[in-house]
Amino acid sequence: MATTVGTSGDFATLIENMLSLERDAIAAYEATIERLEDAGRKQTVAGFKADHERHVAELERLAREHDATIPDEGDLKQMLTTGKVKLGGLMGEGALLKAMSSKEDDTIAAYRHAVENDAVPASAKPVFEAALSDERRHKAWMDEAAAAA
Ligand SMILES: [Fe+2]
Ligand SMILES: [Fe+2]
Repeated sequence: MATTVGTSGDFATLIENMLSLERDAIAAYEATIERLEDAGRKQTVAGFKADHERHVAELERLAREHDATIPDEGDLKQMLTTGKVKLGGLMGEGALLKAMSSKEDDTIAAYRHAVENDAVPASAKPVFEAALSDERRHKAWMDEAAAAA
């Protein structure tokens, strides 16, 4: 099912939902990096993970400016575990990259929702637009790498 993240009419709630989605994505990236055997692919995916860490830093800055709640360390650890378990049963690099591509569908949809959402102030739009273009770049690479794996 397509994600509803990014559709909230309340900007603080939208930021909190985006942070949860991003942290789950980072956990999936960590599990993927651990499992990839090809050094070149590992390095590319690590670069994408760094994009997500930048997204989290920007969302946390917006959270502080707009009185949104940043999930605490305990919540984060729980999410990291969940993310790892979800990818744990998959076999082979092709399947792994395909699963990551479908996770990018959610991050793309969430940022697209945010870009089109009137609850997002104009001053914050560039952050969401830049992240949307990062996620599209990630997905394009995941699809290409999955096809070649
Ligand atoms: Fe991201
Ligand atoms: Fe991504």
